[in-house]
Amino acid sequence: MATRKNLVVDRTSLAHKVRYALVHPQRIPRYARRAARDRWLAFKHRDHVSYYRAVMASDTRRNPEAAVGSDTHERWLALGELQFTYLKQHGLSQRARMLDIGCGNLRAGWRFIEYLDPGHYYGIDISPDILISAKRTVAARGLQSKLPHLTLTKDLTLDFLPDAHFDVVHAHSVFSHSPIEVIDECFAHVGRVLAPHGFFDFTFDRTTGVEHQVLREDFYYRTETLVALAARHGLLARFMEDWETRGHGQSKIRVTAAESARRFLTGPSPASRS
Ligand SMILES: C[S@@+](CC[C@H](N)C(=O)[O-])C[C@H]1O[C@@H](n2cnc3c(N)ncnc32)[C@H](O)[C@@H]1O
Repeated sequence: MATRKNLVVDRTSLAHKVRYALVHPQRIPRYARRAARDRWLAFKHRDHVSYYRAVMASDTRRNPEAAVGSDTHERWLALGELQFTYLKQHGLSQRARMLDIGCGNLRAGWRFIEYLDPGHYYGIDISPDILISAKRTVAARGLQSKLPHLTLTKDLTLDFLPDAHFDVVHAHSVFSHSPIEVIDECFAHVGRVLAPHGFFDFTFDRTTGVEHQVLREDFYYRTETLVALAARHGLLARFMEDWETRGHGQSKIRVTAAESARRFLTGPSPASRS
């Protein structure tokens, strides 16, 4: 089932806001409250990560499952299953080592933890509040013996992680909340931690029109922008067409180190064939 995505709208335009308010008048008070809260948090926290951490603290206090984007427990379960099934269909093996950037409260993470060998799941997040909720998910699912790593971070330099370690790096619904500098930082460093044949999958809110952001919470990018940014860091980025059929509102890109992608496509170089 393909999702109906509005790829051309600029959500910052007055015309869009008026149209939206007329179609959804019942949502106006909620939007106004959110906008006021976000203005205040943005005033208190000037850098994006501190600001978004404060947004997550406020949202998590209310409801951790809603804080990661699921209004009901059924949606929380379904969104996790969607991520897990997709990677399984793309060959995720139990022996794989996985880094889940912006792991949230383990909506998908608990399924990866359950499936992967002990110690092979590494989740990082900027929000201490959501990581506390993630630990509750581990306990509630009885996954203690799988020894997942759950680590707080304030940037995406990944400097505390080893070289060439992860077969799969994953960021679901994280770059949809990230300014371009955060994505740039991630691209600058993710190649170092990827295993030679590893890949990095991330979702993003896609536009084919003007790139824009709403309340510094939701960011809309053109595919070409992200592909070109990845190339500047020696990464090959590919739009995942098959994800478009899964009924999710965001799109997905897969990134590999350009050199490993070349080797994968052409076979080993003569020098490495001995
Ligand atoms: C919408 S939630 C998605 C959580 C999880 N990936 C899932 O699908 O359930 C986004 C998560 O990314 C985290 N996050 C946002 N920006 C981040 C960043 N720059 N680095 C790491 N985590 C980040 C947030 O704290 C939040 O937990």
